[in-house]
Amino acid sequence: MDKPHQVTPDIEVLPAHFPIPGMGFLPVNAFVIKATEPVLVDTGMGMDSEEFMKALRTVINPQDLRWVWLTHDDLDHTGSLRKVLEAAPRARLAVNALAMLRMSSAWQVPMDRVYWLNSGDSIRVGDRRLTAIRPPLFDNPTTIGIYDDKSEAFFSADYFGGIIPSPAQNADDVPEGILAQGIIRWASADSPWVHMVQPREFSRALERIQQIAPKIIFSAHLPPARGKTGQFLELLARVPASTPFVAPNQETLEQILAQMRGGT
Ligand SMILES: [Fe+2]
Ligand SMILES: [Fe+2]
Repeated sequence: MDKPHQVTPDIEVLPAHFPIPGMGFLPVNAFVIKATEPVLVDTGMGMDSEEFMKALRTVINPQDLRWVWLTHDDLDHTGSLRKVLEAAPRARLAVNALAMLRMSSAWQVPMDRVYWLNSGDSIRVGDRRLTAIRPPLFDNPTTIGIYDDKSEAFFSADYFGGIIPSPAQNADDVPEGILAQGIIRWASADSPWVHMVQPREFSRALERIQQIAPKIIFSAHLPPARGKTGQFLELLARVPASTPFVAPNQETLEQILAQMRGGT
């Protein structure tokens, strides 16, 4: 875990980064929206769980949380979910129904604390409305991002993510060309089906985000990005025709292992 930091007067990021050998780092962010009914968005990676809970407590007393919004049930988003629900007895779990069902194969999700959302549904959390939006790219069918109508921010789940050379507090801290390449490659790696979509259909999906025009993008996998929505959408429009990402193979693994052995 990295040090939590405040991005807007009422939104804090709980950042972590995950090393990807030979490529760089994948940011892994959760967020606290200090709404009248405070909301935690995602719960980090399981390997960081102890540190995650400590970081959360520096930002908010978990007893004050009213909502935990799970963007999807991938392991880098659910790492501390059970601990958070225990520490935050008044919080409800805002989640897609399928995500709850999938998690229920591993542990008993308390159904009476769950609030099921589909894309387009919204909840009021006191001073603002949070609307579930399925982003144009996703790696999990249960994905619901959030549009916050007060901060005009889009919490975009894995979408707009990118592998970057070193951890950074803001997207502006990453050189533009490197950021662009990181976003395009991540989109191909995380949503490989993007290479099969009709470009026109995909453009329409991107236009829907353009119409919402979020002022800040809070991706789970990129440092917070202010004023970059148009630029990012242009990058993503290039992804269907880009070279598909291919995961490293056994030969690469052996090279990495040899380097590690050489380094010890
Ligand atoms: Fe994911
Ligand atoms: Fe993720």
